[in-house]
Amino acid sequence: MSHSLSIVILAAGKGSRMKSPTAKVLHRICGREMLYYSIKAAREITDDVIVVIAHQKEAVKAAMERHFDGLSFVVQDAENFPGTGGAMKGVSPKYDDVLVLNGDMPLITRGSIERFLANPADIVMSVIPLDNPGGYGRVVIEEGQVLRIVEEKDATEAQKAINTVNAGVYAFKHHVLQNYIPRLSNDNAQGEYYLTDVIEMARRDGLSIAPLYVAEEEFKGVNSKADLAHAEEIMMDRIRKTWMDAGVIMQLPQTVYIEEGVRFVGECVVENGVRVCGESLIENSHLKAHSVIEDSSVRDSDVGPLAHLRPQSVLENTHVGNFVEVKKSHLRGVKAGHLSYLGDADIDEGTNIGAGTITCNYDGMKKYRTIIGKNVFVGSDTQLVAPVEISDNVMIAAGTTVTAGKYESGILLLSRTPVRKVAGFFAKFFGKGKEC
Ligand code: UD1
Ligand code: CA
Repeated sequence: MSHSLSIVILAAGKGSRMKSPTAKVLHRICGREMLYYSIKAAREITDDVIVVIAHQKEAVKAAMERHFDGLSFVVQDAENFPGTGGAMKGVSPKYDDVLVLNGDMPLITRGSIERFLANPADIVMSVIPLDNPGGYGRVVIEEGQVLRIVEEKDATEAQKAINTVNAGVYAFKHHVLQNYIPRLSNDNAQGEYYLTDVIEMARRDGLSIAPLYVAEEEFKGVNSKADLAHAEEIMMDRIRKTWMDAGVIMQLPQTVYIEEGVRFVGECVVENGVRVCGESLIENSHLKAHSVIEDSSVRDSDVGPLAHLRPQSVLENTHVGNFVEVKKSHLRGVKAGHLSYLGDADIDEGTNIGAGTITCNYDGMKKYRTIIGKNVFVGSDTQLVAPVEISDNVMIAAGTTVTAGKYESGILLLSRTPVRKVAGFFAKFFGKGKEC
């Protein structure tokens, strides 16, 4: 359902408390930038989403345009008009109802935004009661009426003790913003134009201001790396629950890391300690303990324990066992049980990859592909020096180095230094006393 509502997301700030060269809103939670999540929630509700940018504006815009089409961006004049009130200056919303959201609130959902729309007051603002209100603006409420918001840096000791805080979401009528934004001053501890000052101005003019009590699980502001980690835990719980509800079996789910872009299809099993990242697609497969899967697709297969699928790997009806690393390879109906590196390879049905097989895909300058046909038996400790192409029904003896080239069907490949026997060597070498 789409509402006649404009949503403005403030994402222009530096985020200096993050102590990072990366703009705050581009820090990632479950694999996506935190700003992605608030835009996603907003887009579920309306077509008019305006994102205010300034600090690292090109990077923020480019990152969001990778996820969404048709966003409106407004560049804040942060030098002359810093602060959340300054951020609202160039904004022209399409609709009369305007919801303003901080860009550092990745946990917000469509459901919690919709609660703001049900209230007829001139301004509806979010309030969280917190035992430890540090870092947030305090909401001064008397006899149930919101009087003003005081930023922590401007607060008196008595005001700092107030434990109802401003969560940073407000629903305004457009004319209220048009009236008060131009009149904001920067006469405060940070020399900034505070959007929060609109509340006191509107209050004095007799407008109605409704506090909406909300929970930190959805309205948490991320200001530090510790906040980032906490928000990621909450988001990860949601992602795991979504997939368990969809039929995925998870063992010790608290130890499983699944990113936002991952999809599961059919019945999958995910054992403890598994990490699934990027845009991976897992279909009717079993991911065993402590495996890592990045931007790969796994269908009707089992992976691990302790396997690593790096980006652009595709497994179909395949078994990949412990300490096997696969990169940019397509394995169909393959068994690679132990200790191998399969990079830039195409391997076909019925082929068995022995322990210790390595595709030598890199000559120090360029990468080359390895192509292996059907029913090939690759003996243990084989090196395949790419580019190499092996036809169907080939047998490769253990320990063979297959040099670059094309090999025809039906042959045995073997390169091996014959074993020598040296009689009496042990006693000669160790003498009488081998230390145990
Ligand atoms: C703000 C509120 C505070 C509230 C808290 C909730 C103000 C003055 N204070 O404080 O009352 O408790 O959020 O999380 O609004 N931004 C801009 N342009 C700027 C400055 C900030 O777009 O010039 C954006 C930031 O990118 C960020 C959001 O506004 O996404 C909030 O800015 P931040 O500096 O984190 O505000 P807080 O100090 O947390
Ligand atoms: Ca904040």
